[in-house]
Amino acid sequence: MASQRLPYPLPTESRPHEIMTQRAQRPQPALARLPVLKPQLPPAASILPYLETIDACRWYSNAGPLITQLEEELSRRLGFRDRGVVMAANATVGITVALLARRVPAGSLCIVPSWTFVATPHAARAAGLTPWFHDVDRRTWALNPDEVMETLKQIPRPVGAIIVVSPFGAPIDIDAWQEFEDRTGILVVVDAAAGFDTARPSRIPLVVSLHATKILGAGEGGFISTTDTRLLERLRACCNFGFQGERIAMLPSLNAKMSEYHAAVGLASLALWRETRQQHARITQWYRQIVPQLEHVSLQPGYGQGWVSATTSVLLPRSGARIAAHLRQSGVETRTWWGEGCHRQPAFMDCPRSALPVTEELGACVLGLPHFPDMQKRDVDRVADTLADALLDSRSLRIRERRQRA
Ligand SMILES: Cc1ncc(COP(=O)(O)O)c(C=O)c1O
Repeated sequence: MASQRLPYPLPTESRPHEIMTQRAQRPQPALARLPVLKPQLPPAASILPYLETIDACRWYSNAGPLITQLEEELSRRLGFRDRGVVMAANATVGITVALLARRVPAGSLCIVPSWTFVATPHAARAAGLTPWFHDVDRRTWALNPDEVMETLKQIPRPVGAIIVVSPFGAPIDIDAWQEFEDRTGILVVVDAAAGFDTARPSRIPLVVSLHATKILGAGEGGFISTTDTRLLERLRACCNFGFQGERIAMLPSLNAKMSEYHAAVGLASLALWRETRQQHARITQWYRQIVPQLEHVSLQPGYGQGWVSATTSVLLPRSGARIAAHLRQSGVETRTWWGEGCHRQPAFMDCPRSALPVTEELGACVLGLPHFPDMQKRDVDRVADTLADALLDSRSLRIRERRQRA
């Protein structure tokens, strides 16, 4: 449904529900559906030269020339002095590999936020660890090292590792986590799946996803980075059956290698990175202008403050289900990217955890809004208008329900 331009800030109590009902009854011009995401990888023509290299070399995987080139280019872009990157088949196996390469003892606990994508606890389990769900800091939507330090006093079993998750690409205070690791001896891995734009060199290994939905895409793919050169060699071995030179399995490992074909797409994507980043920065800027004008709606903490991501999530004043339904009816698709938190997913309901009040709130009230590279200002305006209508509608409904109950 198209909505009239908003005289922001939203009128609340005084705006009669009847106006909305009348407007809903008037015939509306059909509007195209706004998808929540519409990934765009590089065009075939820009990938072709790399594919021709593969044909010429007949080298398809196992540290081929394109993987080597991609690792070097990524290392340069991230600011490493030497090569500091190992490519992986995807970020999920990348996280498992990072835990294996750090030699986290199998059977130990691994603290993870429940406010993350299920890939994080899946990766911990695949490394032989038991995920322990911890709440996030409401101010950052990420784990807070001081809060985790407090929780450690109450955890009965040894904690072998912590996976810190960058929420939707937001920067992580890596120095604080390095200090935490140095003080406690608990090994830290950063799941920065959506964090290509904020990834920086650090000793703590950082895992970035190159899935098609991420800001830098290779279709499927990922990489692990670290400044620790010995760890880098173990990471490389753990991606390749534990082989360190000879065909002898030296370490518990996986086959987590990226193929030359995915490296071809990754290289073509990297060549377009400036343009891609600009597109996302534009969308981010539009949302930053308009969302603060919606009463009681806030963007993810730090959204767009010097970094960009491929998604936009907002915190609503109440549960998002009805609001999402209204948006869907109006042709605006949304997604609860991380559902209600991992602790609510059947695969992880048996995992130990501490109290999760922030995760419960975010799980109920965070909604992912449309965000795709060729989005226009008018699309963002439409999202904001429809969201304003949806909020009003759900508010009126709540008031009516309360009256009926009274
Ligand atoms: C926080 C987080 N971790 C891990 C992953 C997994 O990445 P991949 O699809 O590359 O395995 C994702 C994917 O969206 C994610 O959001």
